[in-house]
Amino acid sequence: MEKIIDENKQGEALVLEQKDTNKRKLFIESYGCSMNFSDSEIVASIMANQGFNTTQKLEEADLVLVNTCSIRDKAEQTVRKRLEKYNAVKRDLNPKMKVGVLGCMAERLKTKFLEEEKIVDLVVGPDAYKDLPNLLAEVDEGRDAINVILSKEETYGDISPVRLNTNGVTAFVSITRGCDNMCTFCVVPFTRGRERSRDPQSILEEVNDLWNRGYKEITLLGQNVDSYLWYGGGLKKDFEKASDIQKATAVNFSNLLEICAKAQPKMRIRFSTSNPQDLTLDVIETMAKFDNICNHIHLPVQSGSNRVLKAMNRLHTREEYFALIDNIRRIIPNCAISQDMIVGFPTETEEDFQDTVSLMEYVKYNFGYMFTYSERPGTMAGRNMEDDVPEETKKRRLQDIVDLQRVHSEIRTKEYLNTVVEVLIEKESKKSAQQWSGRTSQNIVCVFPKADYNIGDFVNVKVTDCTSATLIGEASPLTPEGGTEA
Ligand code: SAH
Ligand code: F3S
Repeated sequence: MEKIIDENKQGEALVLEQKDTNKRKLFIESYGCSMNFSDSEIVASIMANQGFNTTQKLEEADLVLVNTCSIRDKAEQTVRKRLEKYNAVKRDLNPKMKVGVLGCMAERLKTKFLEEEKIVDLVVGPDAYKDLPNLLAEVDEGRDAINVILSKEETYGDISPVRLNTNGVTAFVSITRGCDNMCTFCVVPFTRGRERSRDPQSILEEVNDLWNRGYKEITLLGQNVDSYLWYGGGLKKDFEKASDIQKATAVNFSNLLEICAKAQPKMRIRFSTSNPQDLTLDVIETMAKFDNICNHIHLPVQSGSNRVLKAMNRLHTREEYFALIDNIRRIIPNCAISQDMIVGFPTETEEDFQDTVSLMEYVKYNFGYMFTYSERPGTMAGRNMEDDVPEETKKRRLQDIVDLQRVHSEIRTKEYLNTVVEVLIEKESKKSAQQWSGRTSQNIVCVFPKADYNIGDFVNVKVTDCTSATLIGEASPLTPEGGTEA
């Protein structure tokens, strides 16, 4: 009798203990690129298996994880400021709170983080998230813990991400990790390691699962998606050593797009980011072949000057870029193109800068992201080139191209006036509770009256007005192909 009660008690204790661990709360936030947001969903999944639930409140978190970005100095400063905030919350409201740093800053700074920032208990690089349970056990025992080992294989293909802050409609699916391109300004190859691709089967399973759970749009993610290559695993750079069978059955990015587009013909498929040197005609043709692959290419060029492109180790010329743009426009006439641009790269002259301006004039991008050069320690440019363009010049050049892009965006959005576009509703418009907000295939935001539509619906919208970044319209019985006027 005694024993049974004891056993029961033990059983109860176990249940209680489980409940206790279930109660641990994780606050996780991400800075930087989409890949970081996607990685945080993998981390949340790993932590859920450790009995953590996510919380939006810092004050009640047992563990805070911040997924960090090193791409520019400013991005790192933002994270440092967040650490100050965690410090204040820990001191005043939540002394039990532990803090872990993930992502590119963790990889770049390594143990320096533990030395420089007292608040940090845990440092984990982008390829070491599966080690989180072990690292956390160390932290629970009162020791700082770190793993910043980069991997040649890890793709997290076997982990089903927990969708964070989701609208239930759009999701990221990561397909490659790392980057082998070695652009001389860029810290990513150092923080995210060598390029490797994820098994297409696991990508397909994730895409199918998302569709079954009601998602309507996915974005295939990688630093350089067009160089996706699966030949059974292994680094991109080792493909030449693969067997004949591996080579014959290899899956490239164009194949992967086709596999996804066919598997879920009603799901919208996007991808990001394309490097001009790797974007092939095959990919453009596959985009044209499938209606559900969105007509938008994010095609960062960084500079319009051949001399600067060379110094950046971007492996194409301005003329080759124009040829690529012409091909895109010929094969997909209604394709939006967007850019990333850097001004003030070391040695950039006024003439170089004017080449960037004239390149933008040629393409007239739909939208873009523009930056002043920020020297990153350890990169080729950081080591070998003096950051010699004065800050004021950088700022002036940035303002010039931001203004120019606004003009071009306006020209581009006006092209949609009086046409019918297909919009996938994502959320309520920020400006009006009576309006839905969604995006067109070209990735342009469009708002229109809610009527009886719901989040996740595809709606044909006639565009009646626009700003430089947003289309404004009303639901229409016409189809997009139906063209302009009734
Ligand atoms: N292939 C990546 C590019 C990552 S970085 C992707 O998936 O988006 C994103 C953009 O940041 C780059 O295209 C570049 O325009 C900018 N950038 C990268 N390093 C930079 C630096 N050192 N200074 C300023 N901008 C930089
Ligand atoms: Fe960076 Fe160039 Fe790769 S910008 S992420 S090294 S393509």
